[in-house]
Amino acid sequence: MAARQGRDAGGDGMRLRGKVAVVTGAASGNGRAIAARFAAEGADLVMGDLDVDGLDATSRLVVDAGRAALGRRCDVTLAEDLTSLVSAGAERFGHVDVMVANAGITNSAPFLEMDEATWRSVLDVNLTGVFLSDQVAARQMVAQGGGGVIVNVASIMARLGSETASNYAAAKAGVESLTRSAAMALAPHGIRVNAIGPGFIDTPMTQPIRDEPVIGDQLISRTPMGRMGSTEEVAAVAAFLASDDASFMTGQCVFPDGGFLLNWARPSQEVMEAFLRLQAQRQA
Ligand SMILES: NC(=O)c1ccc[n+]([C@@H]2O[C@H](COP(=O)([O-])OP(=O)(O)OC[C@H]3O[C@@H](n4cnc5c(N)ncnc54)[C@H](O)[C@@H]3O)[C@@H](O)[C@H]2O)c1
Repeated sequence: MAARQGRDAGGDGMRLRGKVAVVTGAASGNGRAIAARFAAEGADLVMGDLDVDGLDATSRLVVDAGRAALGRRCDVTLAEDLTSLVSAGAERFGHVDVMVANAGITNSAPFLEMDEATWRSVLDVNLTGVFLSDQVAARQMVAQGGGGVIVNVASIMARLGSETASNYAAAKAGVESLTRSAAMALAPHGIRVNAIGPGFIDTPMTQPIRDEPVIGDQLISRTPMGRMGSTEEVAAVAAFLASDDASFMTGQCVFPDGGFLLNWARPSQEVMEAFLRLQAQRQA
């Protein structure tokens, strides 16, 4: 079991050499960067998304990195689409070793005004889509003898509330919980399951809020590191979790968020001065 799960034995940074990784939502943003990083670390890629033109562009990145790419239209809310994606990968490459359940959407509305369809649309893609991706991949991994890795994409919103995106926050909290359940269920099969909870990352999903001066500035000012994260920084965490460098980690959620979840508030100049006065008084 897990004979294909190579460590970076050669020390050349190719921790995913010989692995076949499925990435959903690979046409854009985090999913595209994860596919490119996995290819750079030696994996062949099986990629699903609703946006086939975007998938073609990601496939070119994978091929440019010297790896094979299989891209297919796949709606993660449909089990049959995921089954045909994973089966196509297994048929083409002989095995599937990694699933990154990354596809996600936002569809926000104030809590009192959110209708059922808006609620369900996000739960369907962001939570049910992750459950189906994990289950379909795990069934393939078990059928091929066990061993494998699943990486679910959650969010800092898994740990926070939102007045305008209660559906998104609930779905992401669900992903973090599902990650624990799947990790317990799949550990006997040698399959590790972890999640990533990114903070404010520069992707097409966040472009409207990044470009809105009040919201964008506030999100950045609430991030202790004082900037957005890049998709490459999310992909680096995904590659770590997918590799044997994380061989004793399962059921965890790792947060590349620049410190956002520290619940940090930059003290005003006035507050800073009051602290300094207190300190001076104590020392006097
Ligand atoms: N950008 C951020 O700040 C941020 C922060 C935390 C978590 N995330 C999560 O990262 C993941 C990727 O988001 P992103 O920022 O790269 O957004 P993005 O919009 O750039 O990419 C999302 C991709 O998912 C695809 N997709 C949407 N619905 C789908 C479906 N039903 N089936 C298949 N594919 C579908 C889209 O076509 C798109 O290519 C999401 O799960 C998102 O919630 C993003």
